[in-house]
Amino acid sequence: EDFEGRGVWRYADSLPFPEGVSIEEGDTPLYSVPGIEAAVDVESVRVKHEGANPTGAFKDRGMTVGVRVAQELGVGRLACASTGNTSAALACYGARADLDVLVLLPAGKVAAGKVAQASLHGAKILEVDGNFDACLDIVAELATRGDAYLLNSINPFRLEGQKTIGLEILEAHREEHGEWPDRVVLPVGNAGNTAALYKCFRELVAAGEMREDEMPALTGVQAAGAAPMVEAVREGRDEVRRWDEVETIATAIRIGMPVNAPKALPGIRATGGTAVAVEDEEITQAQRDLARDGVGVEPASAASVAGLRKLVDDGEIESDERVVCLTTGHLLKDPDAAAAAGSEPIPVPNDVDGVLDAI
Ligand code: F0G
Repeated sequence: EDFEGRGVWRYADSLPFPEGVSIEEGDTPLYSVPGIEAAVDVESVRVKHEGANPTGAFKDRGMTVGVRVAQELGVGRLACASTGNTSAALACYGARADLDVLVLLPAGKVAAGKVAQASLHGAKILEVDGNFDACLDIVAELATRGDAYLLNSINPFRLEGQKTIGLEILEAHREEHGEWPDRVVLPVGNAGNTAALYKCFRELVAAGEMREDEMPALTGVQAAGAAPMVEAVREGRDEVRRWDEVETIATAIRIGMPVNAPKALPGIRATGGTAVAVEDEEITQAQRDLARDGVGVEPASAASVAGLRKLVDDGEIESDERVVCLTTGHLLKDPDAAAAAGSEPIPVPNDVDGVLDAI
């Protein structure tokens, strides 16, 4: 009720503190995407673009809360394992709070923009000879030993902040359409957002603001080369089996053990959602489709739109649905993937005729 704060902190009543370590995160756009909407042929498609956050990904919503909690606890060192975006956000918010930041990255598997962010914001960066899941095992052990405060999404305060993605989607969607969306489609790595959105919906149901049968269907999308959640949903299991080998162009979600699966799987089930895997080529095509509608995203983000396409093609999403796709990170996070998916620059001589020849 008290809307004094901005962005994430507009929803302070649903957060553990009245204010956080803030650089004005949240309040991201809910875009229309006419090209995609026409191509998939569903009633309405909107894109919640989390790339518009200060560090270019949704992580800022979690860090503004999580780093505030760390201050309260009086910890000396913040740490995370990361496929890139978490490390960028933690480095940024840690700098703002004047706290030391340690990040463990899978060597050679983090996109250039993200490493640059962690570096300039002053984190100590360790490149581990292993994948993300190995990095998380190590940093969790450091946290258990008391050597660092862990700010991966296994930290529940991160998810409190990320609930505001749901609150913003619901508010904006109802303002435009007069009702909640039928479905939210989102990329899944550690399943933190899936868990956070489910908690958001449950709290609204508990507050009498939403009926249980109105909860948007949570629909997770993973890359085919890193799809342990999809496997668990398909096999009707409550537990996810860890994938030791993972590979995908969407390096942000190159994860074999989604740590929030125990919170996310019940959400997918309770909301009538599902989970689907998409190939790297489908991700790249969705990245191009989003770009043609004016929305520049990194590969993991495009997985949501690729998943929507696939579920419509499979007849699992009906044409009368109103869908929101979550795009989690900005195009410039992974400039190499963007350049590879886009048009080739053409070298020309230094004169008008040469340029005219080329066009
Ligand atoms: N999209 C992007 C761009 C991400 O960076 C991540 C996670 C996800 C989706 C998956 O979100 O974990 O809530 O299911 N990135 C983490 C990181 C792992 O280290 O930056 P989730």
